[in-house]
Amino acid sequence: MIFPPVLQIPDPILNIARSLEHAGFEAWCVGGSLRDRLLGHPQSDFDIATSATPDEVQRLFPRTVAVGVKYGTVGVLDPDRVLHEVTTFRRDVSTDGRHAVVQYGVSLDDDLARRDFTINAIAYHPLRHEWRDPFAGKQDLEGRLIRAVGNPAQRFAEDYLRILRALRFSARFEFAIDPQTWSAARAAASGLKQLSAERVRDEWFKGLQTARSVRRFASLWREAGAASVWIPELEQGEKQTSPEPPASVRDPVLLTALLTQAPSTVLRRLKASNAEIERALAIERGPEQPAESFPTAVRRWLSQVGPAAPDLAALWMLRMGKEPAWSPVVEAIRERGDPLTRADLAVSGNDVQALGASGPDVGRVLSALLDQVLEEPSRNQRDQLLHQARKLLQ
Ligand code: CTP
Repeated sequence: MIFPPVLQIPDPILNIARSLEHAGFEAWCVGGSLRDRLLGHPQSDFDIATSATPDEVQRLFPRTVAVGVKYGTVGVLDPDRVLHEVTTFRRDVSTDGRHAVVQYGVSLDDDLARRDFTINAIAYHPLRHEWRDPFAGKQDLEGRLIRAVGNPAQRFAEDYLRILRALRFSARFEFAIDPQTWSAARAAASGLKQLSAERVRDEWFKGLQTARSVRRFASLWREAGAASVWIPELEQGEKQTSPEPPASVRDPVLLTALLTQAPSTVLRRLKASNAEIERALAIERGPEQPAESFPTAVRRWLSQVGPAAPDLAALWMLRMGKEPAWSPVVEAIRERGDPLTRADLAVSGNDVQALGASGPDVGRVLSALLDQVLEEPSRNQRDQLLHQARKLLQ
């Protein structure tokens, strides 16, 4: 791989870089988007690193947003109101494993030196078409290697999240982790306790969403010691025999359920959203499949699992690597619109009350009617059900 002599840079980024350079500052493209571009992956927006301080950036551009001014990042809005991140060259003066106190007035090379991995420490000048790669990131892109910039132990102690980033990048690009970086990551794994659940969740989810092999990603978490700190369930639960999930399945809730037997516990610990935790709980409650593949059994199962049915079916497919025999039965039931809940019945609770039922009897009768209708959907006729209800109340 060679650095392309000229990179196509989108106009809004070029315009920001021009403004900065005309005002006497340096402006370079940096970070993950450059790495992704060099690897031929669809890239996100380019980040700009500059010698201008956040104040100077804010003064120079008419519309800015203080996205992370404490860490040197100002969002510059282009004429279409799209935000681009411009970050001042910085050096981390001190860190506590999560946050850094930063110092400005340093060079581009100093800024690249405080970055996590060599493949993330490359810079490109969008106007002069010049490359800066002081840590041989290009060589590691070619050699498919995740290697810390400088001293790996120091890099991880500055920000323990970098351990999880190493695992994520390794799984996403199928790059090996350099032995020294790997042993430093394992040695530092207990520091992961200091991270907030939200940051860990973001890494876990992003990793599941981008890994070429989800199973390899999970293995990396185990081998690095990240699983024992944050997801010990990963060490017990996995059914190693089930196949690798296809690339089309990248739903982190479903994949957490595939990889662990207590996904709701994991997601709660990682402070996932209530909706995500609810989904995991419903998956755990199951049952994971209908008792039999006959329409009646499948209707009973659909009625019992409610909105969890698609997740349970997807999980079954992931575990078994094939479509379940009952899946066409589910489709046919959905197509016909067979009644599956009390709300689908041709009689209501009020109807049952009007027959003289009260309190828990109403629910009991409706359940019994639903049961009959699940057995035979053609029984869902108002007169017939009222007749049955009267009989049940005798
Ligand atoms: N960075 C770092 N340490 C971190 C996070 C980020 O050194 N804990 C540096 C890296 O140089 C990284 C850049 O900041 O390339 C931008 O970070 P970010 O946008 O979070 O990640 P990307 O590398 O762009 O990757 P992705 O967007 O895929 O997460």
